[in-house]
Amino acid sequence: MAKNKIEYQCTACGSLHPKWSGQCADCEAWNTLIESIVVKENANPRFTGFAGKSTVQTMADISLNEEPRTATGIGELDRVLGGGLVYGSVVLIGGDPGIGKSTLLTQTLAALGKHLKALYVTGEESLQQVTLRARRLGMGDDPFSLLTETCVERIIKLAQQEKPQLMVVDSIQTVYTEALQSAPGNVAQVRESAAQLVRFAKQTNTALFLVGHVTKEGTLAGPRVLEHMVDTVLYFEGDPGERYRMIRAVKNRFGAVNELGLFAMTEQGLKAVSNPSAIFLSRHDEPVPGTIVTVTREGNRPLLVEVQALVDESHLGNPRRVTLGLDQNRLSMLLAVLHRHGGIAMYDQDVFINIVGGVRVTETAADTAMLMAILSSFRSKPLPKDMITFGEIGLAGEIRPVPNGQERLKEAAKHGFTHAVIPKDNMPKKSDIPEGMKIIPVHRVSELLDIY
Ligand code: TYD
Ligand code: MG
Repeated sequence: MAKNKIEYQCTACGSLHPKWSGQCADCEAWNTLIESIVVKENANPRFTGFAGKSTVQTMADISLNEEPRTATGIGELDRVLGGGLVYGSVVLIGGDPGIGKSTLLTQTLAALGKHLKALYVTGEESLQQVTLRARRLGMGDDPFSLLTETCVERIIKLAQQEKPQLMVVDSIQTVYTEALQSAPGNVAQVRESAAQLVRFAKQTNTALFLVGHVTKEGTLAGPRVLEHMVDTVLYFEGDPGERYRMIRAVKNRFGAVNELGLFAMTEQGLKAVSNPSAIFLSRHDEPVPGTIVTVTREGNRPLLVEVQALVDESHLGNPRRVTLGLDQNRLSMLLAVLHRHGGIAMYDQDVFINIVGGVRVTETAADTAMLMAILSSFRSKPLPKDMITFGEIGLAGEIRPVPNGQERLKEAAKHGFTHAVIPKDNMPKKSDIPEGMKIIPVHRVSELLDIY
């Protein structure tokens, strides 16, 4: 193999330098130069495009067959993938260490390995460890082939001989390419190795899973460098100490994004949760101050979650604003709205917000729930146990409608809730109100103050 020429590229301004130095000579940023391979135009067939032969075609020539999908046998994973695996697609699975990435992929390979040729490439665990886990998960004797290798050129060479239809690389941070001299896990290494694997998957029509660890800052090592290269990006959410794990699709070229798959970690690995809508409620015997249930819609289905707030006198110059599972800036904004449009000041109070069960809510529909929980805790007055609320709050103090209000109400009614505080514009027709449900429509933040 001809030796590739290596240059150093500045990640801040993009300029190229023949030698590494601590400071970029062009933009004067520090510690931004990373190793990269110089690509001469048409020089190397390795660098041809990902998306097929380069000829000009009209749209009419392109056949629009649905991508054939293969169900993985794990319903919740199929849901986030958009219906199943697509051959030739690359899926990146990210998450904290110990959250269950290897477990999920072992289970997927075992389920699919019965019909497909599957290869598990591991750079983190020994073959014994992987086999032990597979045995413990009750998989047959020979569900899939294994390989321990971390050099990407050798992985691809062996995969070309083996011709798997489905391949897992666990994890991309342990893989390195001989073309670069930097250590595995380094941004340049991760990017170049992933690029080679993606090219291999596209050229051979292999379905490829790449496992990526999330660094302390919450990004995949190399600041999300891989997201644009792959077709689908899935992130594991939840706390490794908790029972429930969630997988969210943040990018999907073959399906909807923000779809959520729910799993429970058990002795026998990850089990899909088929009826997840009410698993995140904590069910107090007596009504307690500072909690209320809201109905969010993550992906295509409604989910009942409990929002908890604790408001406590602050002894700090800067009172604390802490959120778990919700956006902290949103909390600051709501407190400002509460002050200006509701006349209740919190500048001498610490405010803590938590979503029960480690779910992360990305929707603004939880605004009214956050505010009602805060008020309830502040006044030490519990809200009724059978009450739910949803609605977005605007800076002008108005309460805005949210999509799919009817469906949310129905889901709440199904779980026995009888009171709903919802935006006036979400008010259903009389005939559409679920039986036994009392609706309290609200239009302004000030109306929320008088509810209880
Ligand atoms: P793992 O899948 O190795 O996590 P990752 O690859 O994301 O780093 O392990 C997840 C955790 O789940 C680990 O701490 C052990 C636990 N676990 C179970 O509780 N039950 C099981 O059946 C398995 C295989 C793992
Ligand atoms: Mg692992």
